[in-house]
Amino acid sequence: MSKKILLVGSANMDLSMNMLRVPEPGETLLDDGGVAYLPGGKGANAACAFARLGGHSVFCTKLGADLHGQKLYSYYKDQGIDTSYVKVDHEYPTGLAVVMKESSGENRIILYPGANTMLTAENAQEAFGCAPDALYLGFEIPFAIAVSAARLAAARGIPIFVDAAPASEDQPLESLPPMEIFSPNETETKAYTGIVPFGTEGCLRAALNLCRRVKCKHLVIKLGSRGAFIYDGKHYDMIPAFRAEKVVDTTAAGDAFTAAMTLRYLENGGDIKDAVRYGAAAGAITVSRKGAAESVPTKEEILAFLERNPV
Ligand code: RIB
Repeated sequence: MSKKILLVGSANMDLSMNMLRVPEPGETLLDDGGVAYLPGGKGANAACAFARLGGHSVFCTKLGADLHGQKLYSYYKDQGIDTSYVKVDHEYPTGLAVVMKESSGENRIILYPGANTMLTAENAQEAFGCAPDALYLGFEIPFAIAVSAARLAAARGIPIFVDAAPASEDQPLESLPPMEIFSPNETETKAYTGIVPFGTEGCLRAALNLCRRVKCKHLVIKLGSRGAFIYDGKHYDMIPAFRAEKVVDTTAAGDAFTAAMTLRYLENGGDIKDAVRYGAAAGAITVSRKGAAESVPTKEEILAFLERNPV
């Protein structure tokens, strides 16, 4: 039976712009073609991933009462996401992210969170009515709401998975209850710890620092093309990345990685190495396509990729 995952997180419309390089201060650059409004948001990207990977994806989020909100809502329905807990705020517009994508595929994002800031603890509490097998959280919503959803899950014995993005140095991570997996990327790890997770030693120092603040069964630091560092409080390991078949757009690669890893972990009885490899395959496919939510692969695509790229 497919796992039911409650995702309490963000929804954005992405304004995706392509450029050879980002502009210098005072410089105006022309878009390099392909400007588009595309479905995004770290929460929504993960919700789409769960649906495409065969999970029962329940999304608790807040949209604005505007055209972007309407388009995103229809998109979620088309993707097979359970939208029973997608709420509409009448004061703030739908979240908007300007995604500046360089020709290398790297991106820089500026986010106006809009209606995401209006998600409430009551919204999250109501969503637990779906009786989920797991709770998945990101930090593009007010941190206090993420903490409150996590506490509700902990009180019900529901495992918690956190994609720790975006990060701010003063995030009170200590207030989160014990989790199954906590997963920041390199930039977020540096923001939380002040340590650059470079090389095994740098990663271990950062992991030890983070694990003093965060109670989790597995810490997974996503290192992009350098792989992922895993630590369970006793043992660590470096899981190599897959070589992406091409790099078009790195947007949402981390979201796809963490979501795919989470679902696989729930399905494989908690084998973290296998789950991380599956997540890494999802990330490698995602970077080979344009867009955010639209670039996330299906289960069949990941399995075919793993067959073409055996460990
Ligand atoms: O992680 C990628 C996402 O970050 C984009 O889709 C954008 O909406 C921002 O939230």
